[in-house]
Amino acid sequence: MKINPVSAIPAAEIPAQPASKIDPRQLNNSPRISALGFLSAFGLQLSALLLSLACLSVAPTQAAEPTHTFAIGTNDFLLDGQRLQIRCGEIHAARVPKEYWRHRLQMAKAMGLNTVCAYLFWNLHEPRPGEFVWTGQADMAEFCRVAQAEGLWVILRPGPYACAEWEMGGTPWWLLKYDDIKLRSRDPHYLEAVKSYLKDVGRELGPLQITHGGPILMAQVENEYGFYGKDAKYMDEIRQTLVDSGFDIPLFECNPPDQMKNGLLTNLFQAANFGSDPAKNFAKLRRLQPQGPLMCSEFYPGWFDTWGQTHHFGNTTKYLADLTYMLSHDASFSIYMAHGGTTFGLWSGCDRPFKPDTSSYDYDAPISEAGWATPKFFQTRDLLGQYLLPGEKLPEPPPANPVVVFAPVELTETAPVFDNLPAALVSETPRNMEAYDQGYGCIVYRTRVPAGAVAALQAAAIHDFGYVFLDGQRVGILDRRNPAAKIILPARAQAAQLTILVEPMGRVNFGQEMADRKGLIAPVKLNGELLQNWEIFKLPLDDQMLAGLKFHGVGDEPQPEMTNQPAFWRGTFTLAKAGDTFLDLHHWGKGDLWVNGHCLARFWNIGPSQTAYAPGCWLRAGTNEVVILDVLGAESHTLAGLDKPVLNELHPEKDFAQAHRPVVKLDLAPAAMVHSGTFAPGSDTQDIKFSAPATGKYFCLEGLNAQDGKPFAAVAELDLLDQNGAPISHNGWTIAYVDSEERQGEDGTAENAIDGQTANYWHTEWKNASPGYPHRLVLNLGQSQTIAGFRYVPRQGDTTGHIKDYRIYIGDSLVRK
Ligand code: GLA
Repeated sequence: MKINPVSAIPAAEIPAQPASKIDPRQLNNSPRISALGFLSAFGLQLSALLLSLACLSVAPTQAAEPTHTFAIGTNDFLLDGQRLQIRCGEIHAARVPKEYWRHRLQMAKAMGLNTVCAYLFWNLHEPRPGEFVWTGQADMAEFCRVAQAEGLWVILRPGPYACAEWEMGGTPWWLLKYDDIKLRSRDPHYLEAVKSYLKDVGRELGPLQITHGGPILMAQVENEYGFYGKDAKYMDEIRQTLVDSGFDIPLFECNPPDQMKNGLLTNLFQAANFGSDPAKNFAKLRRLQPQGPLMCSEFYPGWFDTWGQTHHFGNTTKYLADLTYMLSHDASFSIYMAHGGTTFGLWSGCDRPFKPDTSSYDYDAPISEAGWATPKFFQTRDLLGQYLLPGEKLPEPPPANPVVVFAPVELTETAPVFDNLPAALVSETPRNMEAYDQGYGCIVYRTRVPAGAVAALQAAAIHDFGYVFLDGQRVGILDRRNPAAKIILPARAQAAQLTILVEPMGRVNFGQEMADRKGLIAPVKLNGELLQNWEIFKLPLDDQMLAGLKFHGVGDEPQPEMTNQPAFWRGTFTLAKAGDTFLDLHHWGKGDLWVNGHCLARFWNIGPSQTAYAPGCWLRAGTNEVVILDVLGAESHTLAGLDKPVLNELHPEKDFAQAHRPVVKLDLAPAAMVHSGTFAPGSDTQDIKFSAPATGKYFCLEGLNAQDGKPFAAVAELDLLDQNGAPISHNGWTIAYVDSEERQGEDGTAENAIDGQTANYWHTEWKNASPGYPHRLVLNLGQSQTIAGFRYVPRQGDTTGHIKDYRIYIGDSLVRK
């Protein structure tokens, strides 16, 4: 039987059992104890254990046998029985070249951290069912060993789901071959795969737990599950699977405090994720977990970037004030990210509803993408240095890696995509990429269309960009950012060949949209007539495919019309010595980039990233080979190496989208004003119930004024509630209209109000203009829905943008073209 992941199973259904019966080493085995029992039972056993322990140092050492103990006490984390304030920061091994792991971990230590937190990305470790990879970039055991050698403890977050702006949140694409799979639920196909993966995680990393002489202190069960579902039995399955896989260290779960109650396991230690306001957030955590150390398991110094939106900068003054609060209130924390690094290859994910992430994962973290010490690094180091534990000393940061530059070189060889197609598969109707057993890369769909007048070509959906060619000439682009996957085909004097090159971005990594199948989604129709008999060409963009490309010099034959032809380009650059560099992609359109066989990045001329980080350890003195796939066509085929990244340069004028936001007219006249009210001040979540449910496809929040009297409105998140008070799925939602959104000074785009994240927000303009109230945000729900109320999450913190008086309109036609 399939279980709906959002069906509620209250944690209270899990019966309680007296704590005294519990063997603390089995704590994570038992779903039957309360948080209080958990903590006190562990405390008792620990004091007995401590009597026999002499070694009380705070830094881990390498050993085969356990030389330290770690426990979650009544008030503190306890290392060898002594209070351990965990000063942790997140670093993802996969986002840092293996050759630089030690450097980055030394940087983390020098910043004042004593622990490093790391996700595992399941899809990196199990690229095909049952094929496990733990070598090279995926050698997590080595990452842990290096951390240990550098005097850092490790908190492991094995998943199975990570989020992390990583392709499909770390879950493997091949799960999508089951048409009806329910990810992150008790769906047997999903759970069977999870169990096999976690068993291998246990085999590989179990020996590195502190209980076995390693540096791993704790392991996390799932990730922010409260954002996704409510099934405590599912969470318990994952917890038990970790235990069965050999995890005998304390386990924990983490959520933003407001989501914590969903799927809560009362026998698990709870940590809270938030980006501001520790006092308020810890108070909320305390309501659910009255005892135990306080830990912020994700504390954001910045934020990730998505294509087409401005680069994110954190507010460093606030970050330092919040860190100071946590340090001085005995709280532990993990800075997400201490060092973000780069999402190399095709691993970048996508925010909901569809905001693909950039390859740079700089995150405005204290340690920059290239491992440099930023001002925030030194400010963090100065602060953390005041809170060292007995016996600790801050090492000096290691020197930054050398940087090299090179002058522009011309990429002189090309391999047009359509001259390099593999043998075709045939398909009556086009299917998604996964159905052809393809996980990543691009895919080409080809058929013939009859002679005829101008006609509408429409697919059910496009995931994510479809470059449409008629007899080899590009005639349009199907674009997932548009509400309909539709373009107008020109008239054809005779039957013509229709070719659609589909370029998927990373799969959505957050929310119910994660089952993000890629490709051209059928049915595909021309003026309403079904198009059939397709040829399919798979372009996995893997090593084998790249090795087989047939390049020719651009001077060898008459220059084809290349301005919008998708093609690979190849060239070389020469370095006197290897060093880090930032490849300047300003002249290129959109695609992917390889250097010496390493896929470094996706790129897109709209920004904000205009460079790709090329780590020196993957470059060499002498000749280096570059391959670029440009699906749009470049302005020039040159590439240079710069000494600095360019991460914040937007070019909306280069975007092929019709417009960031289609121009529509708001028409509230025919809509019903279903509710009006006044929000409470502050940033607490507020559930509003209407006097009677209303039905419509559009939902309009109209803010009339702000709590602080200023002209700005901001919303962290909006949920619509059904008649049971439960949030309606955001699947298929788009922004139909917004009167103002800040896109220059910060990423205040309206989608932030429906992306499920409460740390980012829609914000009306403030940089170049400050339009006043009323402010209106209209959601298109995709279909008519019955709405009984809504949930408003204000922008977090004591800040501008909190709306005071408001009205709600619901109707079927609130906007007109
Ligand atoms: C969440 C997740 C992280 C990451 C951050 C945003 O809270 O738990 O994996 O996605 O948001 O960077």
